Amino acid sequence: MDGFYDALERAIETARLAPSSHNCQPWRVDYSLLSQEVSIGFDNHRVLRGLESLEREMFISAGVFTHFLTALLAYQGYQLNWQWQSEYGDHRVLATSGVTQLNSGSDAEEYQALSQRIRERHTIRSRFKTTAVDIHSLETIVQHASCHFYSADHVGTTLGNLTKQYAALDFTNKSAWEETYNYIRFDEDEFAEDGFYLRNLFGPVSKPFRLLFRYGFHPTMMPINKRLGLAKKMAAGLGELVESGPYYLALSPKENSQEALFECGYELGALWLYMQRQGIGLHPISVLVQHETARKALAQSLQCPPPVFFARLGHIEQSGLDAPRRSVESILNCV
Ligand SMILES: Cc1cc2nc3c(=O)[nH]c(=O)nc-3n(C[C@H](O)[C@H](O)[C@H](O)COP(=O)(O)O)c2cc1C
Repeated sequence: MDGFYDALERAIETARLAPSSHNCQPWRVDYSLLSQEVSIGFDNHRVLRGLESLEREMFISAGVFTHFLTALLAYQGYQLNWQWQSEYGDHRVLATSGVTQLNSGSDAEEYQALSQRIRERHTIRSRFKTTAVDIHSLETIVQHASCHFYSADHVGTTLGNLTKQYAALDFTNKSAWEETYNYIRFDEDEFAEDGFYLRNLFGPVSKPFRLLFRYGFHPTMMPINKRLGLAKKMAAGLGELVESGPYYLALSPKENSQEALFECGYELGALWLYMQRQGIGLHPISVLVQHETARKALAQSLQCPPPVFFARLGHIEQSGLDAPRRSVESILNCV
């Protein structure tokens, strides 16, 4: 094994904490010892397919992971220059890069600081503080995608109402909900490598709530659930949270291509870590970008191009909890 392989393994140990839709972690990394080339691709079994629009989120998620990986390797003295690929073989290769050693060498202190920031980052699904966020500084981070920020003072009520109107789709669209449900880990003590425990979604939950959610929201219960209005109730709760903001982010690619989506994710990775440094958290609300009617209404309300990623954000009041993660061995393949 060469020195770069060790650095890559070490970087993946931390980069695997990158956020992804449903925490499916769709990425794989291949490294060729012979050509010293790294590639990022999809692990076919892990790609979400419940809705067509989820394909966008796979490219975005892989982009975030790639940003984390690239930044971690840079502080270990290795530069990667990703070239977009569109290979469909046994698995989908997204980007490849040769390895260049940086003259500046490694920076142990910066590496530590970045690793810590990545480890401390969680998706925040609780209320944020209402303190002001310096939006102008956030706007400078994203260069290759269209990134718009909003405040709840202006659009909170509209966005809250949109969420109340559309968020039940999360539970009532059959194929989407069946897939999501499969990612929920109901046994809070059992090891899982992907998906989320109920505590990740709702904070600590009681046993009755766990049972109600497990059986009341089981996909076979969808017709009864609909009649009882459970999905609508969940949507109303999320709507109130969305209304509280206090800020929002809508991200759209510069053009309609897979590469542009990957780039969007790469920049989102940089933004998410920058925000973490300022004590600002993100709560993606993807239901509003996954269904075309909701997405159009969102774009119209925000007067921006149709977003591929939408989130509320603000200063963190209550930290999130660690979610499951895949092992380095399952991500990295060395040939
Ligand atoms: C593209 C994308 C879309 C996401 N959409 C949602 C969402 O709609 N609702 C939500 O609560 N979390 C969403 N998340 C956050 C993931 O669920 C989260 O990253 C994953 O469960 C791992 O948890 P962590 O971010 O706390 O490490 C999204 C993340 C990404 C990258």
